[in-house]
Amino acid sequence: DKGGWSSFMAKEINEQADAVGNTLRGRISSAGVEIPELTALGDDRLREIDRIIIIACGTASYAGHVGSYAIEQWARVPVEVQLSHEFRYRDPVLSDRTLVISVSQSGETMDTLMAVKYAIERGVTTISVCNTQSATIPRESDAAVYTHAGPEVAVASTKAFVAQITAIYLIGLHLARVRGTFSAEEQTRAVEQFEALPAKVAEAIETRDQIAQLAHWMADTRSVLFLGRHVGYPIALEGALKLKEIAYIHAEGFAAGELKHGPIALIDHGQPVFVLVPSPRTSPIMHSKVVSNIQEIRARGARVIAVVEKGDTAVLPYADDVVRLPLADTLFEPLLQVIPLQWFALELSTAKGLDVDQPRNLAKSVTVE
Ligand code: BG6
Repeated sequence: DKGGWSSFMAKEINEQADAVGNTLRGRISSAGVEIPELTALGDDRLREIDRIIIIACGTASYAGHVGSYAIEQWARVPVEVQLSHEFRYRDPVLSDRTLVISVSQSGETMDTLMAVKYAIERGVTTISVCNTQSATIPRESDAAVYTHAGPEVAVASTKAFVAQITAIYLIGLHLARVRGTFSAEEQTRAVEQFEALPAKVAEAIETRDQIAQLAHWMADTRSVLFLGRHVGYPIALEGALKLKEIAYIHAEGFAAGELKHGPIALIDHGQPVFVLVPSPRTSPIMHSKVVSNIQEIRARGARVIAVVEKGDTAVLPYADDVVRLPLADTLFEPLLQVIPLQWFALELSTAKGLDVDQPRNLAKSVTVE
């Protein structure tokens, strides 16, 4: 039941504040973060972990990519992200001190399941981040940290994505507490950010009308680029993937710092570029670098759509459109930034008269390798 919405995707984008809130419930308090499913693994085991590999496909891999920054920063363990189907065939270096975190909405994606089984055979500790109770991947894993986004019907993942980032962050905070890498102050700050998040997500969802107007004039666009830095980088990748998936438009996401190493050659008159601008308050250096990127592409004729936090006026002289989001610390910005990009894909798909929920050639869950 679409509950009055034009598509399941629209409904699910709109449910994201609940997806985050429900995923936090019972795991976060003023005392900090504790995930009972991880406590059951034993703190000693978590303290001994010296390397984390996140495995996933598609949108779930971008949630993992966002999460990798937070876990590394908070728990001080090296974290890498690998596509499930690449992980298995590279003869990865694994030990009993490696932790593999798989991320899968369905819990049935065959590529990810086979990667998890491979890791288990090699004695690695496995945690599954999954949205589907009792799916195969969480059942096979040592621990399951469920996202509580509710059933996701649209093929293109939206609410599961924000819930996945939330769950991975919680894992990072749990590890940081157990490993003692976090001061009480930092812990409190992260908890505060989380508690304020659902209301901010709800506010970000209200960008729809502005985005719909943008999409309207762009219905004939053949290519869209997305730039982001740090945690904004995987969001750029996700924004591009959404557009490919449901609007069938060529789109690419780049790390903003990589622009001068190649992608800037693509910039031509009228080329639309979404730029995810980090907070000038919590990442002033990255902010100024991204603003320079905007100046560089604008000078070459790009049509710049800047996604900024409210009150950031630095981009105004150079942006054609400015999408404003509530204030959040750097690591929490992706959970807001992705929302206008989801709306953009949906609105562009709609403007092209396509079926938003059932894109051609794609399945919600791919159960073959
Ligand atoms: C793809 C879906 O086939 O699988 C994507 O089209 C999804 O939307 C990806 O992100 C991974 O799926 P899952 O269920 O493992 O998260």
